[in-house]
Amino acid sequence: MDDTKIALVTGANKGIGFEVARLLGREGVTVLLGARDAGRGAEAAGRLRADGVPATPVHLDVTDPASVTEAARRIEDEHGRLDILVNNAGIMTGWGRPSELSVDDLRQAYETNVFAVVSVTNAMLPLLRRSSAARIVNVSSSMGSLTRIAAPDSGIPMMSYSSSKSAMNGLTVAYAAELRDADIKVNSADPGYCATDLNHRTGPRDPAEGAAVVVRLALLDEHGASGEFRDEHGPVPW
Ligand SMILES: NC(=O)c1ccc[n+]([C@@H]2O[C@H](COP(=O)([O-])OP(=O)(O)OC[C@H]3O[C@@H](n4cnc5c(N)ncnc54)[C@H](OP(=O)(O)O)[C@@H]3O)[C@@H](O)[C@H]2O)c1
Repeated sequence: MDDTKIALVTGANKGIGFEVARLLGREGVTVLLGARDAGRGAEAAGRLRADGVPATPVHLDVTDPASVTEAARRIEDEHGRLDILVNNAGIMTGWGRPSELSVDDLRQAYETNVFAVVSVTNAMLPLLRRSSAARIVNVSSSMGSLTRIAAPDSGIPMMSYSSSKSAMNGLTVAYAAELRDADIKVNSADPGYCATDLNHRTGPRDPAEGAAVVVRLALLDEHGASGEFRDEHGPVPW
């Protein structure tokens, strides 16, 4: 088996996902750059290639089952396996207080941040099982840490986004348990508060700084942990 690793990063046409793709590419990983808009994907892959990172765009709307199936079929045809899946695509909806939140806002956040993670992971698992050491990284958030948001001084959480990331962490633990025997490590990463379109670029960190912990978990060796939630400093409380 060719030992060049193959990684799929969802929502990689900008923000943290783009920087994850760049950093993985610099580590010699073959990067498949997932993007729901083919034009934005091609443009982002072009920017990476100009930077010396040979990335290939893959059309992938994580909330569209047909798109997910087609992306898995294409990866199967072109590569036959997948070594790294980074579930990065994410959205933030519903800024109001919980009592003002519409169920539609909540549902929208869950479609992308939770349900699509299951859809993409399950579609890619047959390919990941063919890897000798597969890794799955779910890009979560400290806003999904129930311990942190339950602290009396933490204010009122942004319920749709926070609870969707708590749910995502639940997925991490469940997949890690199921896949432990298959030697597939599954972890959640908290990139920290980064300046991206998600938060109208209000975050103090550069997206590349946020991407670093995601890449570390994507490249864990055989001694690395599974079923954990980590930021750049170490474990984040669930
Ligand atoms: N920024 C932060 O401070 C921060 C902190 C903690 C966690 N995170 C997490 O980091 C991840 C990346 O966010 P970001 O900050 O880099 O935000 P961003 O710049 O808004 O990027 C989000 C990416 O997700 C893509 N996306 C959204 N819905 C999609 C769908 N249905 N199918 C495929 N792609 C889709 C977007 O594509 P389009 O360009 O087509 O919209 C974009 O590429 C998210 O999971 C977010 O929750 C961010």
